[in-house]
Amino acid sequence: MIRFLENHSLKSYNTFGVDALAGYFFELTDPMDLMVFLQSNKTWKDEKIFILGGGSNVLFTGDFNGLVIHPNVPGINIVKEDPWNVWLEAGAGVEWDEFVGYCVSCGFGGLENLSLIPGKVGAAPVQNIGAYGREVCDLIESVSGFTLISAEQATLTAEQCNFAYRDSIFKKELKDKFIITSVLFKLDKYPEFVLDYSGLESEVRKLGEVSLINIRQAVINIRSAKLPDTKKIGNAGSFFKNPVVEVAIADGLKSRYPDMPLYAVDKDKSKLAAGWLIEQCGWKGFRDGDAGVHDRQALVLVNHGNASGNEIYNLSEKIRKSVFDKFGIDLAHEVNLI
Ligand code: EPU
Repeated sequence: MIRFLENHSLKSYNTFGVDALAGYFFELTDPMDLMVFLQSNKTWKDEKIFILGGGSNVLFTGDFNGLVIHPNVPGINIVKEDPWNVWLEAGAGVEWDEFVGYCVSCGFGGLENLSLIPGKVGAAPVQNIGAYGREVCDLIESVSGFTLISAEQATLTAEQCNFAYRDSIFKKELKDKFIITSVLFKLDKYPEFVLDYSGLESEVRKLGEVSLINIRQAVINIRSAKLPDTKKIGNAGSFFKNPVVEVAIADGLKSRYPDMPLYAVDKDKSKLAAGWLIEQCGWKGFRDGDAGVHDRQALVLVNHGNASGNEIYNLSEKIRKSVFDKFGIDLAHEVNLI
């Protein structure tokens, strides 16, 4: 299936629910249609291009006067297996949580801690989604797609993707230059459970034995209690990254604020909790018109109805400034601003 539309509303294509227009909108389900489109329709080369997956990590601050490409490739296939592992290929358009649910129901371990993250499979490697002690890069074998300029098919190994905390080559050198059509995952038939994230193990124990199904359910319970459902209230998860700073800076703050959460990264760096910093500045539950800060997780900005992308952005800048003024920490956006 392909669709090519002009002046198309993106409201239902971003979880913030912001009403922005795409000059041109191209949706495809077969990667070959994308190649034909790129090779035959040369005029797109003069356009600004934005590749849109599930729209769960993006804030449109205005209309997009260019071409939005929405690769909606379906399908989950077992590509190979051995006694210990299974390699699964999932199309970029598969709903992330449906894929996780499928893997858990088959007894394939690795992705269960990443349950209920909104968005599609194709976006998972872009920002290297992570939650409850797991990052998706640990389970990715390779990422396939097309280069925009030459319209050639290419597969990048996990190493070539340069994964880091909420970061990858697709946010840097290949930003808007590579269209992901599928991702290959290597999962475990005899999984090692990761339960050390605060509160996870006790939530699993409430449900019974430690199993893939119970870990998935525990993560769903924790997320549902803390994070707003994108179907009910517009949001894009964490708006900012958790700042990674020099140990000396983190220790200095810790001595001034003993209750501040702090996570060791390595011998030189520590990670701070952006949600805590924002809450300390008094923003939790704040609302200005329809733009606001979630009342249970200050790291999440919300659209209570008809906030424009610009109103949400302006609020985020006020939050950034106040965190900088109080703590001397400059928060970086986790959400992609367009
Ligand atoms: N905290 C507060 N106030 C708040 C929010 C958090 O004091 O309003 C404190 C918490 O009490 C806790 C610490 O900050 O001590 C960390 O909070 P939490 O466990 O909720 O996680 P987070 O660091 O705020 C990160 C990810 C989330 C992921 C969770 C769980 C980033 C930017 N965010 O949030 O990912 O679900 O850990 O692993 O790394 C996302 O990326 O969109 C996302 C939701």
